[in-house]
Amino acid sequence: MDNKLRLGILGGGGDSLIGVLHRVASSMHDKYRLIGGVFNPEHSISLDFGKQLGLDSSRVYKDLDSMIESEKKIDINDRIQVVSVLTPNYLHYPMAKALLENDFHVICEKPLTTTYNEAIELSKIKQSKKLVFAVTYTYTGYPMVRQMTDMIKNGVIGKVHKFDAQYLQGWLNPVVHEKEKRMSTWRLNPKVSGISCCVGDIGTHAFNMVELVTGMKVKKLLADLNTLYSDNPMDVDANILARLSNGANGTIRSSQIATGEENNLRISVYGNKGGLKWEQENPNYLYHLTDDQPLRVLKSAHQYNSEISNLSIKIPPGHPEGIFDSMGNIYHGVSKAINGQSFYNEEFPGIEDGVRGMDFIEKAVHSSKSGNIWVNLD
Ligand SMILES: NC(=O)c1ccc[n+]([C@@H]2O[C@H](COP(=O)([O-])OP(=O)(O)OC[C@H]3O[C@@H](n4cnc5c(N)ncnc54)[C@H](O)[C@@H]3O)[C@@H](O)[C@H]2O)c1
Repeated sequence: MDNKLRLGILGGGGDSLIGVLHRVASSMHDKYRLIGGVFNPEHSISLDFGKQLGLDSSRVYKDLDSMIESEKKIDINDRIQVVSVLTPNYLHYPMAKALLENDFHVICEKPLTTTYNEAIELSKIKQSKKLVFAVTYTYTGYPMVRQMTDMIKNGVIGKVHKFDAQYLQGWLNPVVHEKEKRMSTWRLNPKVSGISCCVGDIGTHAFNMVELVTGMKVKKLLADLNTLYSDNPMDVDANILARLSNGANGTIRSSQIATGEENNLRISVYGNKGGLKWEQENPNYLYHLTDDQPLRVLKSAHQYNSEISNLSIKIPPGHPEGIFDSMGNIYHGVSKAINGQSFYNEEFPGIEDGVRGMDFIEKAVHSSKSGNIWVNLD
């Protein structure tokens, strides 16, 4: 056939939000071929969707168990090698666990699991195997996020002393005020989502971005979460103070009730020599601030950017790239790792980032519920 990686997908059906992003991203660098999977809990719907994608119906399975059983009987050179887990949160752990135990590489959506203990458990299984495990913090794949990370690492802004990460959305505002409507989204159902909605869904992206670009760990946090209604068990807004390993302090703010906001993820980091600021809704630009020079705007796909930034672009400057490209870069990094090629650590978030994310979620909920106390992360 060809030497592309044979990809399976769990979830991500025609009715899903994130499926198309992964399908397009996986095909972007010509490194994967989608073979099959389970796209919907209803087999007939899954089969119809597989047909639409032009897949062999014998590789569209009724559930993960039958997929594993059948794939393991297929010749090793034709068998699915890597599986993307794109189902609602509560299914990530059992699916990823079964995949690892049966020697499939895994690309898993965030949050990694619904509890920190599950995340630790998965990480232990992963450590015992020679397998690649990626957690799709999508925005880490943008060329100018990689540029920001590189500039901070190289001391361009000096010693980091302040950060501000925000992820503001407004999509829950039309939903949250009516009880019936708020029961209709799985993200507000703890059995499906885990213990947090807003922090788990988008606060984790902001947290991961802080640790990625600063190259430091968040050591402790103090969280104030809001559920808006007393019968709503899930947070829809979060203001979190955080302290980095070098003592720098900052904020991680996330909201799904910031009325009218779309996908306003922004990260700003300040040091004694300058600041850097990046915004997801305007991702091809990176702003460099200093005390005594005019604002400098770096743009993607220029030679003045770092190697890791420039290996993350596909076309010349002036052609805006977006979320599909960002996820495509993550898939590309994963393909290098599976194929034994050299790659930068920053090319894809690993299971350790997923574990950190789960620690962050649980500690944020704990801090808020305990009366807004400072809590150490592991
Ligand atoms: N990285 C990001 O930026 C990002 C963005 C959105 C969502 N997500 C994550 O992606 C995951 C899915 O989110 P979504 O918004 O696409 O959800 P969704 O509800 O839109 O879609 C879920 C899909 O999973 C399928 N599914 C459900 N149960 C299944 C089962 N047992 N077997 C097979 N398929 C099953 C559904 O049929 C559907 O196709 C979540 O964990 C979410 O946190 C990540």
